[in-house]
Amino acid sequence: MSPVNVGLLGHNGLVGGNTLKELAALQKAGKAKLVVIHRPSASTETIPSDVEARSLDLTKPDGPDFDAAVAGLDVVVSAVGGAGILDQKAILPALSRSKTLKTFFPSDFGASWKKEELQELNVPFLQQKEEVVEKAKELGVPITAVRNGIISDFVFQFPIQWNAKENQVFVYRDSQKVAVPFTSSSYIAAAIANLVQRPLDTIANKEFYAVESEHTGKEVTEIISRLHGKATTEIPLDDEKIKAGVLNANPFVALGSGILRKSGRNWWDFPEERVVVDGWQSKGIEYELKKVLS
Ligand SMILES: NC(=O)c1ccc[n+]([C@@H]2O[C@H](COP(=O)([O-])OP(=O)(O)OC[C@H]3O[C@@H](n4cnc5c(N)ncnc54)[C@H](OP(=O)(O)O)[C@@H]3O)[C@@H](O)[C@H]2O)c1
Repeated sequence: MSPVNVGLLGHNGLVGGNTLKELAALQKAGKAKLVVIHRPSASTETIPSDVEARSLDLTKPDGPDFDAAVAGLDVVVSAVGGAGILDQKAILPALSRSKTLKTFFPSDFGASWKKEELQELNVPFLQQKEEVVEKAKELGVPITAVRNGIISDFVFQFPIQWNAKENQVFVYRDSQKVAVPFTSSSYIAAAIANLVQRPLDTIANKEFYAVESEHTGKEVTEIISRLHGKATTEIPLDDEKIKAGVLNANPFVALGSGILRKSGRNWWDFPEERVVVDGWQSKGIEYELKKVLS
């Protein structure tokens, strides 16, 4: 089989940085030809010398630069963050004009949110992700969605379901009993590498999820208690507090409350198809917690 031509956006991010490593390894193994598409201001330091880099400004109007940036690519994976989420819309017309593109992975890598949750959550970037997908559908660009659990090398830095640094756990309804899905950014990257090696018509217009491990709220709390050497303080939250959190004007507060509500109400379901990375050696939740507490 000839190597798949893969484009990557967002190579300096948490997810994108790991995806760069995985896809560069696929190229070394002769299984892919990787092209990093980066904005003109981006650092290109981490791009291996044998990987092609193409500069593209997503904030400029669509034109020949966009066609040149995606030329010859079979699949484009976007792992952009921040303002880049909405800016992804700019590349869609070129992807729709491409004669080679089989599918586009928009930057998602989040939980599987139900429509009702999304409508209520005051988190603009979640709505923007939807907007990108809608635009892609309108232009006939095939989409491959990858969703996952809470990113384990990200979440413990913030007070969401646990405030690991302060040895606290927020308890809402069944959040201590319910199994919470976790995925490291390196596992997401390995799942992406797994998907792009499949026949691309089998992943186009499909949704996948990558969950590395599941732990009940109590299990995670016990690790935190052990690492601190004393009992974790429980902070109970009721329906009213969670509702106020979900509607909070600060999107990070809203997102955190939305996540805790998923745990408390057992809403962590993934209707998508699971991607399993064979032979994966997980570093585990305790490793991530130790890093945050060191
Ligand atoms: N489920 C979870 O717990 C979780 C946690 C974190 C993130 N996520 C999701 O994962 C995805 C990636 O997030 P991340 O945290 O890995 O991203 P990040 O670290 O914020 O990555 C930023 C990357 O996006 C690029 N970028 C930003 N704005 C851009 C623009 N306007 N044009 C082009 N490139 C732009 C940056 O380019 P430069 O190099 O030029 O700066 C950089 O490479 C997002 O969809 C995010 O919502 C999920």
